Amino acid sequence: QPQDADARTPDRQASPVVVAHRGASGYAPENTLAAADAAKALGIDWVENDVHRTKDGVLVVLHDSSLKRTTNVEEVFPGRAPWAVKDFTAAEIAKLDAGSWFGSQFAGVRVPTLTQFVNRLERNRQKLLLEIKSPASYPGIERDILKVLRKEGWLNPSHVRDRLVIQSFGAASVKEIHALRPDITTGFLGTPAVADLPAYAAFTDQINPSHTTIGADYVAAVQRLKGPHGKRLRVNTWTVNDAANAVKVRAYGVDGIITNYPDMVRDATR
Ligand code: G3P
Ligand code: CA
Repeated sequence: QPQDADARTPDRQASPVVVAHRGASGYAPENTLAAADAAKALGIDWVENDVHRTKDGVLVVLHDSSLKRTTNVEEVFPGRAPWAVKDFTAAEIAKLDAGSWFGSQFAGVRVPTLTQFVNRLERNRQKLLLEIKSPASYPGIERDILKVLRKEGWLNPSHVRDRLVIQSFGAASVKEIHALRPDITTGFLGTPAVADLPAYAAFTDQINPSHTTIGADYVAAVQRLKGPHGKRLRVNTWTVNDAANAVKVRAYGVDGIITNYPDMVRDATR
């Protein structure tokens, strides 16, 4: 009697969750409303972004500490090198073009505030993987982020349960979010030594490493542990921008894949 196909392939894993890195940033300028919309157009729910703070205390969505690479700040504000976000007001940043560098069809796209960004995700019915960038440069940014999220309705029970994860390379920042709002799902960006993982599991629900630093054993070591909410730790890996690596990390058993090309990764891993 031939074995049934399912019996021959036990533990067939569900496809990893696909997260649009800085939005669908392979198709639209990163960390803009256009990049969130591009992810939506591809049917992608989860959007990753990066948050910084302006001179006047407004949270804005942008990857780099400097405005130089992704806006026309050099043209608009010559002589203000190194064009650090923290040296500009929100009103100044609102004047910048954050789309033309990516393509002329995106001319006039702006650097969004965190408020504008979450409101767009809400309109699109999307979910947010929020990265606190360079937290050491912005003392107190954790409280500022929670204040905006609360005001915009993103700390409601339904959002906290299904639609929000806050992550950082800064362990102290992740710990602070967990201390301030223990109900929020948190992620640590990096690849802690296996021996150190239990200490991380006290305050983070996810270990989110570069795909170049992991293998199946590491993923399994993380997933064996339980996080602060009593569920097993999850692994979301970045930034996987080709099908071969997507297939590779799927075989490692990761829970999520963060990518600039979410449609490609979805197709490669389902
Ligand atoms: O979400 C993970 C990934 O975004 C971390 O690297 O430099 O793209 O923010 P980076
Ligand atoms: Ca990021």
